[in-house]
Amino acid sequence: RMVMKKSKTIGVLVPDISNPFFSTLVRGIEDVLYKENFITMLCNANGDNKKESLVLEELSRRGVDGFIIASSAISDKDIQQLLVNKNHPFIILDQKSSDENSDSIQTDDFSGGKLAALHLKLLGHKKVAVVIPENATTNIARRLEGFKEVMDENISIIYSSLSKEGGRKAAKKIVETDVTGIFAINDEIAFGLYLGLKDFDKSIPDDYSVVGYDNVDMCKYVTPPLTTIAQPIYELGQQTAEMLLERIEHPKQEQVIKKLPVNLINRFSTRQI
Ligand code: RIB
Repeated sequence: RMVMKKSKTIGVLVPDISNPFFSTLVRGIEDVLYKENFITMLCNANGDNKKESLVLEELSRRGVDGFIIASSAISDKDIQQLLVNKNHPFIILDQKSSDENSDSIQTDDFSGGKLAALHLKLLGHKKVAVVIPENATTNIARRLEGFKEVMDENISIIYSSLSKEGGRKAAKKIVETDVTGIFAINDEIAFGLYLGLKDFDKSIPDDYSVVGYDNVDMCKYVTPPLTTIAQPIYELGQQTAEMLLERIEHPKQEQVIKKLPVNLINRFSTRQI
């Protein structure tokens, strides 16, 4: 590759590095960048948009060659000012949604939601809950839209942060409903539900069928192994890095939007009703 630039450094912004989804994503990104002799600089945004714009500004000042943004903390206005106006190449993905001008790579969240609903429906579940953040980012909200397309009635929406602790707390609200099926909008929430439901002496899948989302490594190590919607997380990271390198090489090429498929991994956390 003929990439002639200044610092051979790429800035990567993620919302929560403690979530294994983002560590696997960054591994995919870094593996590709490293092979191309780029250094990856990681910023954990943690929902803090001040921190995120400060980091973007500082990285830009240091002459970083490009950016990968998976966090929604940064506003479109800041992207315009800090990246577009300064001609910095960048790719946005996951929790950050694209405006008309940005290159982006997505996974098929709508189909993912549909797959989760179809799985529960075919097992005979009629009353279901979706555990999801109250102010869900666009990608995550799309999973709920897909879910609703298949399962149009009897959905209890239960709000939770995208974390194990959020899932654990959501269990209290779940047991107050009469649902039999649960769609946890990410695996971290599902893992939290495992512990939270156990505190109420409920078991999975006997009392509740649980479907997660992401297919992080841990899914196969919990009891029962978690049925989930798999995102190609590592490949997503790799392709994001490749797309950015392409953009650095060809700054004038048209906007690129890529969408990767998801699929259901059927393990043991759901059962026929
Ligand atoms: O687990 C983190 C979740 O937030 C994933 O589903 C990912 O797509 C992100 O948006």
